[in-house]
Amino acid sequence: MRPSKTDWPLLAIEFDLLDLSVTEVTHRLCLKLQLVPDDILKLTVDTILSPASRLYFFSVIEPKLKQGIDCEQVTLYLKSKQETVMCLVNAMCQPENKVALIVMLADKHLLLERQLINERNEVTEINDVLKRRQLELIQQKEQKAQLLEKIAGINAEMLQTEKLAALGQMAAGIAHEINNPVGYIRSNLNTLSQYTQKLLHLIHNSGITEQKREEADFDFLESDILSLLNETQEGVQRITQTTHSLTQFTRSPGLSEWCDIHHQIDTTLKVMRNELRDKVDIRKRCSEIPEVYCDPAQVNQVLLNVFLNAAQSITRFGFIEITTQLVKDRVQLTVEDTGCGMSEEVLARAIEPFYTTKPEGQGTGLGLSISYNIMRTLGGALSISSAPDKGTRVILSFPVAVKQEGAKGGN
Ligand SMILES: Nc1ncnc2c1ncn2[C@@H]1O[C@H](COP(=O)(O)OP(=O)(O)OP(=O)(O)O)[C@@H](O)[C@H]1O
Ligand SMILES: [Mg+2]
Repeated sequence: MRPSKTDWPLLAIEFDLLDLSVTEVTHRLCLKLQLVPDDILKLTVDTILSPASRLYFFSVIEPKLKQGIDCEQVTLYLKSKQETVMCLVNAMCQPENKVALIVMLADKHLLLERQLINERNEVTEINDVLKRRQLELIQQKEQKAQLLEKIAGINAEMLQTEKLAALGQMAAGIAHEINNPVGYIRSNLNTLSQYTQKLLHLIHNSGITEQKREEADFDFLESDILSLLNETQEGVQRITQTTHSLTQFTRSPGLSEWCDIHHQIDTTLKVMRNELRDKVDIRKRCSEIPEVYCDPAQVNQVLLNVFLNAAQSITRFGFIEITTQLVKDRVQLTVEDTGCGMSEEVLARAIEPFYTTKPEGQGTGLGLSISYNIMRTLGGALSISSAPDKGTRVILSFPVAVKQEGAKGGN
């Protein structure tokens, strides 16, 4: 059996919109207002409202209801036997000009509202914490990525350094082995050359007839023996130069002294005057820099290799710009050329021992690897950047040692 409206567990009242007579009321509301249902059913709805609420009812609520518009969450004061009770009311249009007022006591509503506000605040707080945590996580992730990148860079650098050091050691070892036999080949060749000169001289003065000379093809033999000797001596000279370069890998630095980098630049440029003439314009931009404590011969060797590479990369005419400056605790020397530049592949291999792109016989491919090694043993660094047709920039950085009082050449 369907329960009657008066049995609803709600606080509710129904009235007729035409004459405002109360048509139904729930028992619970009657209890709250301390009235008997039969009494309420004799009333019009406005009589259970306080005077102020009645005014509001007639001026705002009733006109809206008459247009068929519900009024939600309006505050009305209902009169009970002893007091007026503040309520939150939903007035909803029903069929046949009826209106249902669903009533919620303000106390309960306020409690609910407070609970909602509290919950909302808690949610906002949790949200803030989550946002902060999310930001922290993003930052941690970024830091981790940066760290990983750094580690990968250091690993690659260490691998490269170890590879170069191992190759250098090996090359120096081989050079050492070659040096001995080359030494006596060179010495024997010199003696052989002297003996040959003497023999030829003897033959010339031996009164040998023209006919015999022709039969033995003496003129050809003489010139060919001399040129064979010359070529062989040149070859041996080249081997000696190469093995000498290779031994630089393990050579410990000579005597270190306070060294003016600008002076080293000038002496090196003087030595390579011929290479530069008519082809390269040197531009120098020198700043005030402290002296560097190192072996000047080694510095000259590095400069020579780097300047030569720059000059050789320029085919017709170009510039080499040499800049010196103090960057933090390092003297930095930058050599920039307007030459052919390097592709990514060449750049990646440029400091490998024996790597060269120059025609056979013109480059040993040792210049940069030796320079790289020297800079490392000096506690400095050599770095290269380059792109095809954009020239090359080599940066040499030297550590600045602190001068002891009374040190030779000290400031
Ligand atoms: N400034 C530069 N411009 C363009 N390419 C360069 C430059 N410096 C070096 N390279 C490239 O790097 C390679 C290796 O240079 P490195 O100085 O070690 O040997 P090399 O110059 O070929 O021979 P060597 O120094 O014995 O004469 C060169 O062959 C060249 O391809
Ligand atoms: Mg070179």
